[in-house]
Amino acid sequence: MTLPSHLKPMVIVIFGASGDLTERKIVPALYNLFVDKWLSECFAVIGFARTHFTETSFRQHLRKKVDRFSLRGKTNDRDWHDFASHFSYISGHYDDSAAYTALVNHLSKLDKTWHTYANHTFYLATPPEGFEAIAKNLGKAGLSHDPQRTRIIIEKPFGRDLVSAHGLNQILSSLFQESQIYRIDHYLGKETVQNILAFRFANALFEPIWDRRYIDHIQITVAEEVGVEHRGGYYDQSGALRDMIQNHLLQILCLIAMEPPVSFNDNEIRNKKVDVLHAIRPIPKDQVHRFTVRGQYGAGCLQGLRVLGYREETGVDPDSITETFVALKLLVDNWRWQDVPFYLRTGKRLPAKVSEVSIQFRPVPHQSFPSTSVKDWQANRIVIHIQPEEGINLRFQIKQPGLIMLVRPADMRFTYREAFRKPIHEAYETLLLDAMLGDATLFMRDDQVEAAWSILVPILEVWESIVPDHFPNYEAGTWGPEEAKQLLERDGRHWITT
Ligand code: BG6
Repeated sequence: MTLPSHLKPMVIVIFGASGDLTERKIVPALYNLFVDKWLSECFAVIGFARTHFTETSFRQHLRKKVDRFSLRGKTNDRDWHDFASHFSYISGHYDDSAAYTALVNHLSKLDKTWHTYANHTFYLATPPEGFEAIAKNLGKAGLSHDPQRTRIIIEKPFGRDLVSAHGLNQILSSLFQESQIYRIDHYLGKETVQNILAFRFANALFEPIWDRRYIDHIQITVAEEVGVEHRGGYYDQSGALRDMIQNHLLQILCLIAMEPPVSFNDNEIRNKKVDVLHAIRPIPKDQVHRFTVRGQYGAGCLQGLRVLGYREETGVDPDSITETFVALKLLVDNWRWQDVPFYLRTGKRLPAKVSEVSIQFRPVPHQSFPSTSVKDWQANRIVIHIQPEEGINLRFQIKQPGLIMLVRPADMRFTYREAFRKPIHEAYETLLLDAMLGDATLFMRDDQVEAAWSILVPILEVWESIVPDHFPNYEAGTWGPEEAKQLLERDGRHWITT
């Protein structure tokens, strides 16, 4: 693997360096990039957080975490020492100007050592309450102004509604140019999510039938077995609509529904995606109950083990009305997709961890086979498996071998594991590298984030005004509340579980 020539000397400053995200995702991803030689010789990582660490204790702490969370397994001594020698740490509050002065001094020291002006990437991996203070202090310290050298990465959640997202965009745009701002949606870094673009636009076969004439409906499922884990406090203020639909599921929908891009230019792709968000039919408030379902899990059984109900989880209000499951029906009002429903569902404590997109095609226009030949007939279907088994399935009809004509469905399967026999990169590796290279294709632009929030405004307003008195309404270990089934049954359809 050759080092990209445009990978300049680079400093990554991680705010929230003692937090969960840094330990589980960011540093393991950086370690992999380092071992795979994607990082310049002149790279440095500066951890910035309130927790007190010395440089040595910070490095030791990170090693334990990388050993635990890296998909590559345990670090080896030689690689780790090499890697960790690039790390330093500043302990400070996010609004402490002295800590920013220390940061400025540290950055200039690195420039002097390397005899150059390095690029700076500021990664805001803190809870969202920290974003404003950090961005403003970077501005005050003179660290936001150079659009060529400076980037800022912002973790989700980006706002908790349209008003707060717009407010945050305004603060950021008063300090940084849009081209410097990288809003993360880690689903966009997943190999199979990116592959949707390749599948659709690098093949001549699928695009001609990718529309309302041939497609009956589309389902997007992101199901999780886990509950809220150690994040009860955050999740209880958020819920599944904000936590998953606003970002991950709507972004997948955009990739499935967008028009072919003219080029792979970051803004061109994002323009095409934002067009889809603008075309999604607003759900009138008095129709929210017809187009959405919300649920919350009660105690139940998963993989043979009893698990707690949501309201019993640590950090969760015992009377919480936060939803842990959402199902939605959306319509995209444009020539390609008129009247083709997009059904989205996501939830915690469902029976399996599965993320997939099912493209259900229409039946053949005329059934020429006698009914005795087609007992198990099914229309064509493409299923894009995002995780855990990354791949694509194409379902079509075949003649069953034998002396009489019997038509039955069969699957053509492609899996990354069998095709490439090497581990899939973590989404954060791709995203960090892209941000360092200045490629914003896989990041959310200001208008995209706001367009996604706009779709959810009526739902949030109605849900906030009507207290659900039926929670919990699904048992942990099941596929969500009964109403989710009915959402599709009313349209003569059912959820596809492959
Ligand atoms: C995060 C959500 O964005 O995505 C979590 O905040 C969720 O609640 C996670 O568990 C799921 O990501 P993945 O990559 O495990 O499917």
